[in-house]
Amino acid sequence: MISIPDQGSRRGEILIQLHAVSKEFTAGPEPVKAVQHASLTLKIGEFVLLQGPSGSGKTTLLSIMGCLMKPSRGRVWICGQDVTSMGEDQLPSLRLKHIGFIFQTYNLFPALTALENVKLALKLKGFGWRERHREAVKLIERVHLQDCMHRKPGELSGGQRQRVSIARALSGGTDIILAD
Ligand SMILES: Nc1ncnc2c1ncn2[C@@H]1O[C@H](COP(=O)(O)OP(=O)(O)OP(=O)(O)O)[C@@H](O)[C@H]1O
Ligand SMILES: [Mg+2]
Repeated sequence: MISIPDQGSRRGEILIQLHAVSKEFTAGPEPVKAVQHASLTLKIGEFVLLQGPSGSGKTTLLSIMGCLMKPSRGRVWICGQDVTSMGEDQLPSLRLKHIGFIFQTYNLFPALTALENVKLALKLKGFGWRERHREAVKLIERVHLQDCMHRKPGELSGGQRQRVSIARALSGGTDIILAD
């Protein structure tokens, strides 16, 4: 069951826009065409499922939407800002402000506990010590991991690691959640 809160005055606002986006990788003699000419518009409150076989370009497209990767061609706008023309130094703050990314391969810090992984995201988003501890515990409880919040990712199951990743993506109340 997915509940999407009422968006109030932001109803209809465009969060992500892709125009004719393509991405090629160079691996071996032939370039790999991972994404070809993709265009889409996602508005606030929308829940969209991207479906395709293994290797069809889902992670690549999500990485471009999450500003983790630049397209080879085409334009990307996040919350009205043209990210294709932004420098690498501007992207981290845009990601922190607008995007929560749940990675296919978790991407948790192995030396930090589940709780510390979530707290770190909140620290980067400007939460003070006391506030981030309180928020991180709330998020950990929301994904039902309170019994193992002091364990490191290597001591958790795959599903539990993914739930830490979900808690981290939800931290700070971002506009966009991209779940790979
Ligand atoms: N860094 C890279 N270098 C070279 N080729 C890559 C790279 N990343 C992805 N690819 C290739 O790009 C294509 C799309 O990969 P991508 O990871 O986006 O697929 P996917 O749809 O997410 O697959 P899966 O469902 O298996 O996760 C594949 O052919 C893959 O081998
Ligand atoms: Mg993938």
